[in-house]
Amino acid sequence: MKIIKQDIVYKVAQSLDELHPNDQELILQAKHFANRSYSPYSKFKVGVAAKLKSGKIVGGANQENASFPISVCAEQTVLTNCVINHPKDPIMQIAITAKSAIQKIIAPVTPCGACRQSIAEYEQRQTAPIQLILQGETGPIYIIDGVSHLLPLSFDGSVL
Ligand code: THU
Repeated sequence: MKIIKQDIVYKVAQSLDELHPNDQELILQAKHFANRSYSPYSKFKVGVAAKLKSGKIVGGANQENASFPISVCAEQTVLTNCVINHPKDPIMQIAITAKSAIQKIIAPVTPCGACRQSIAEYEQRQTAPIQLILQGETGPIYIIDGVSHLLPLSFDGSVL
């Protein structure tokens, strides 16, 4: 039997100063959109900002519901917004951030499994990877060149 090892690759910056000014701006936009979160139950505000090929920035934030499973992650809100309002404009990057009323978020928050699968589908639709830029309220920044680094062996719709 063979053992197959698959590496994931991501960059870590210790502060925003290490990023290109456009990427710094995208993180700041994500922090701005975190204020649009509706999260009275978890008190965990996730904000995202997608940069499109045209340069346009589209925002999103998690939207909760008293019936918890109905809640929508921030990533899902921005993906839907992009494809409905900018169908011909591929997504180049998504910055993701979070803040909490319960504790200071000092590490990057990575997308949940369902959101990784959704981002993977959008990458397939546009046949180009989406760079993810992740930061908590403070602390290091992860830069990930495509969701495949977060979702090896992902389910692929080509089998359907
Ligand atoms: N959440 C997101 O918006 N994105 C993720 O990738 C993980 C979790 C939201 C869902 C819920 O409103 C809150 O964070 C706590 O789980």
